[in-house]
Amino acid sequence: MKTIWKMTGVLLALTPVAAAYAQSAGPDWSAVPKSEITLFYPGQASLQWIMGKDHAKGAKAIAQGRNCLYCHEGEEADKGKLLVSGGKLEPKPIAGKIGSIKVTMQAAYDKDYLYMKASWPTKDPGMYHEYAVFKNGKWETYATNRANANVAAGKLKASYEDRFSIMLGDGKSVPTYNNQGCWITCHNDLRYMPNEVKKAEIDPHPILGTAGLKKDDIRKYLPQSRTAMGENGGWDKIKSKAEIDAMKASGAFLELWQWRGYRSNPIGAADDGHVLEYRNADSGAAPFFNNWDGAKNEPRFMYNPAGNNGRGGLVESEFRNAKAPVLNEKNRVKYDPGQGWKDGDLMPKYGNQEPKGSGADNKPVTGTWANGVWTVIWQRKLNTGNNDDIALKTGERYPIGLAIHDDNATARFHHVSFPLTISIGGKGGDINAAALK
Ligand code: HEC
Repeated sequence: MKTIWKMTGVLLALTPVAAAYAQSAGPDWSAVPKSEITLFYPGQASLQWIMGKDHAKGAKAIAQGRNCLYCHEGEEADKGKLLVSGGKLEPKPIAGKIGSIKVTMQAAYDKDYLYMKASWPTKDPGMYHEYAVFKNGKWETYATNRANANVAAGKLKASYEDRFSIMLGDGKSVPTYNNQGCWITCHNDLRYMPNEVKKAEIDPHPILGTAGLKKDDIRKYLPQSRTAMGENGGWDKIKSKAEIDAMKASGAFLELWQWRGYRSNPIGAADDGHVLEYRNADSGAAPFFNNWDGAKNEPRFMYNPAGNNGRGGLVESEFRNAKAPVLNEKNRVKYDPGQGWKDGDLMPKYGNQEPKGSGADNKPVTGTWANGVWTVIWQRKLNTGNNDDIALKTGERYPIGLAIHDDNATARFHHVSFPLTISIGGKGGDINAAALK
């Protein structure tokens, strides 16, 4: 076999952001097979919907173990077009949103690492996230995601990072993931879904509420983490802590890795999480910090004025401007309300930090945008040795799902794949990782 190693420096040197992380060697991608995968807009199609009476034919086949693709292969673009327009399962269509995205995937591995390369077109690269503005003596939201009612009404600007997400199972411990894909984590009671549970209902809950994990909303969870599931899900019926801990120890969770255009890319990483009783972050530290003090309604940090033309924030011309500095651990200082804030000063609501512990397993992960295409190159240890990760083995095939958040979207307003597989060394996957030597 011909050697497929080379320096990726040339490829990654397209933006100054990525250049700092371009030193590592990686595969010569020109020698690695490509898989073209169409991701589509899923609307509010939850697990309850796909297993319910409005999808009865599908539900019966799914219960017998059929993969969605048994019936829907090649239908991704049509499904996306129907759902994104509000034709079905979408009460609040977002104007101008596209129905599907084609992503080109490649993967390779050596004795220690899995490498992946994903590229997909997007008009406007989401390298920016939410901003606050100083107005009449206080801070308020300036820009956020397009699902926000004030953004839809034109009262606030749209700004939210792009994301490329990977969900992966071990193939055994969460068996329904193999044929039902990410739908097993998506329920009617999640945020933005038809029976969204509000904070006031969550607050008294012993595990998720104010005495426990202090959650404001309900996010992805596995049905097997619940004692019972009803027709809208089972958000409040979490198994005991001992049972959840035992599930985690046995590997009964799904990996969820997210490359983020603002909150992880500038630091050359993707975040590392896992879905079990909630969408959890892995132990250690994520590549980003929340810069908002909700109780005081002000930033936690500001730019060090010494390195920012004497200013603590950004000016309006720096909104979604690639030349503006990304807030991080090195250029930040504690927020000072006496910094001489002026109307129109802007502050990013998040910043980057060096990921740590199990939160640092997806690194380097670098995205570059050129000629209307994002290209993300990913590196991850096959076996991280952490108990919140799946240890990948060569010669095995794993169930995998992909998602892209495009065009200032959050939460469910993404494009997703049907349930796929990745083979590490074999040929039978939808994505086949090639051996490097
Ligand atoms: C036995 C075949 C079958 C299987 C398996 C199946 N479906 Fe369907 N699905 C259908 C049929 C039939 C429809 C109605 C529209 C059509 O003909 O495509 C439908 C419609 C849908 C729709 C609504 C959009 C539309 O075109 O009407 C979604 C979303 C969907 N299916 C998702 C899934 C997912 C996710 C899975 C796997 C977890 C799945 N389906 C498995 C047969 C199936």
